[in-house]
Amino acid sequence: MSENPGNRSRRRGAMVSRSSRFVGGPTLATTARMNASHVRTTLLAQHELLRGHLATCTRLAELVRSGEPLGLELDEALARLRDDLSAHNQAESAVITKLLHGPSSWGSLLVDRMLEEHLAEHAAFWELLSGTRSEVAARIDDLADELDAHMAAEERTFLSPLTLSDDVIRARSREDLID
Ligand SMILES: [Fe+2]
Ligand SMILES: [Fe+2]
Repeated sequence: MSENPGNRSRRRGAMVSRSSRFVGGPTLATTARMNASHVRTTLLAQHELLRGHLATCTRLAELVRSGEPLGLELDEALARLRDDLSAHNQAESAVITKLLHGPSSWGSLLVDRMLEEHLAEHAAFWELLSGTRSEVAARIDDLADELDAHMAAEERTFLSPLTLSDDVIRARSREDLID
């Protein structure tokens, strides 16, 4: 049974609009005093969850491309990937905004540019995940590589223990209060 195209496009529209806003995620509240290790652990766990979804999706897509009748399983796996990627992107955007928009030696234009580029990458992933089952199945290998590289880069930078530490957040929160 194939999915109603109207449902699919409505869901896609909701995903795109959610991913393009700076909002707090449903599972990760970010306050001036957010706990760095909790935030970091949660975001890293979400990365692992997404890597698992990507592995499932690429395996199922390969089977579907070779003619196996696993279209519904692939649809469900892609829906899980989209939902969890949406939740992760919302939570992550809120954290990055909080971390980068404190007082900084970096100019605010540079920070805005970094945020803009990061969100543009998230939006590009939504584009790659949009479309019919066969369209997405045809490009899922490239998407998996690109999303994995995106997450690996985050783990080397703002998700490293040196960047996302309680000391850094405490210092920024204090400066926020002084501002
Ligand atoms: Fe990201
Ligand atoms: Fe991420």
